[in-house]
Amino acid sequence: MSELTTPTVLCFASYQKGEELLRELKRCGCTVLLLTLEELADGPWPMESIDDRFLMPSLDLGPDVIHAVSYLARSHQIDLILPLDDFDVETVAAVREHLRISGMGETTARYFRDKLAMRVKARDERILVPEFVHVLNYDALAAWMARVPPPWVLKPRSEASAVGIKRIHHADELWPALEMMGDRQSYYVLEKYVPGRVYHVDAIVWEREILFAECHVYAAPPLDVMQEGGIFSTITVARGSEDERTLRRLNRELLQALGLVHGVTHTEFIKHDQSGDFYFLETASRVGGANIDIMVEAATGVNLWREWARLEVAALRDEPYQLPDSRTDYAATVISLARQTWPETSAYDWPEIVWRLHKEHHAGLILADPSHERVQTLVYQTIQRFAHDFMTSLPAPDKPTS
Ligand SMILES: Nc1ncnc2c1ncn2[C@@H]1O[C@H](COP(=O)(O)OP(=O)(O)O)[C@@H](O)[C@H]1O
Ligand SMILES: [Mg+2]
Repeated sequence: MSELTTPTVLCFASYQKGEELLRELKRCGCTVLLLTLEELADGPWPMESIDDRFLMPSLDLGPDVIHAVSYLARSHQIDLILPLDDFDVETVAAVREHLRISGMGETTARYFRDKLAMRVKARDERILVPEFVHVLNYDALAAWMARVPPPWVLKPRSEASAVGIKRIHHADELWPALEMMGDRQSYYVLEKYVPGRVYHVDAIVWEREILFAECHVYAAPPLDVMQEGGIFSTITVARGSEDERTLRRLNRELLQALGLVHGVTHTEFIKHDQSGDFYFLETASRVGGANIDIMVEAATGVNLWREWARLEVAALRDEPYQLPDSRTDYAATVISLARQTWPETSAYDWPEIVWRLHKEHHAGLILADPSHERVQTLVYQTIQRFAHDFMTSLPAPDKPTS
């Protein structure tokens, strides 16, 4: 191992993200290596914090990546490898195993990437999950469909952003869908559709303890927004509420069951509309996407990317990690597709706006304030106005209620 005062960290990024993690690694005294895609070469990487950057046409797990990193390791003593995107989690775990470098290995990484693996493990640990079956054995599938009433969702075990999820209402719909998928079908899971609001808990874990966990609720389920259109919105859950207590407890039980030692996580639950029970939906060992990092920082002052870098370096150096002081304000994100190429949001001029999205055909704001009620009111107004100002003909989601 190289001098741990100046450890060498290799970051995998198959997506443009994690700039603050790269900067913080540098501030902590690391030698920072970035491995990313050729197509991301011109992205806004903080080059002043990156000692060396390597580009590849693909970061898909395979001999090319193993060979490339092994080649790098001839001249660099790599102490740590970090995956910046969810997609990189499994690849990095495999590379760590090949190089015999510490950090999450392939077994644990599976629990944070493979929706079937996380379901099975959570169920074994008596955490409530939607009923599910692996798309593998046809007798087992038929028996499951005879037992579990529809609707169901057929979803890929390791895609993100509701990509490829299909609602199924009858067994007769499933078989042709599987036929179309051919050999891809065993990469899917079939599960019961749980009607309800979707929550996410974004946490910092150190020595298997949850040091920080922020709970949020989406205004409309992400699947509805992705597939039916509408406005994406998420807001901090009322602090001290029963929902928040339940989410924190479930999040702790889950992460301990899955065996995460340290890191940053994004975990989702659905609260059943009728029973009020929370079902575990999915988890990931990474900073949540959709600007959740900015929203969490607006509410608490804690930057998840920065803390991830700090705790990884602390673990490497065998030093204690301490969470910085944090606030307990409220924050929310509202994002809509826009008919305008560069939608103008300057008419939205509340002082509570802490961030604006700059992306073609998108309008987006992050709002923050110490008052939950104030943030709720502004989110409601923003959703109404976005629907009018930017959306085309798609309906707005219901008023957020928590
Ligand atoms: N069993 C389920 N019941 C109800 N909704 C579901 C279920 N599984 C997925 N969804 C919907 O699909 C969305 C995406 O599913 P998820 O498992 O979180 O995958 P990902 O976010 O990685 O695409 C969820 O936010 C939710 O709206
Ligand atoms: Mg999800």
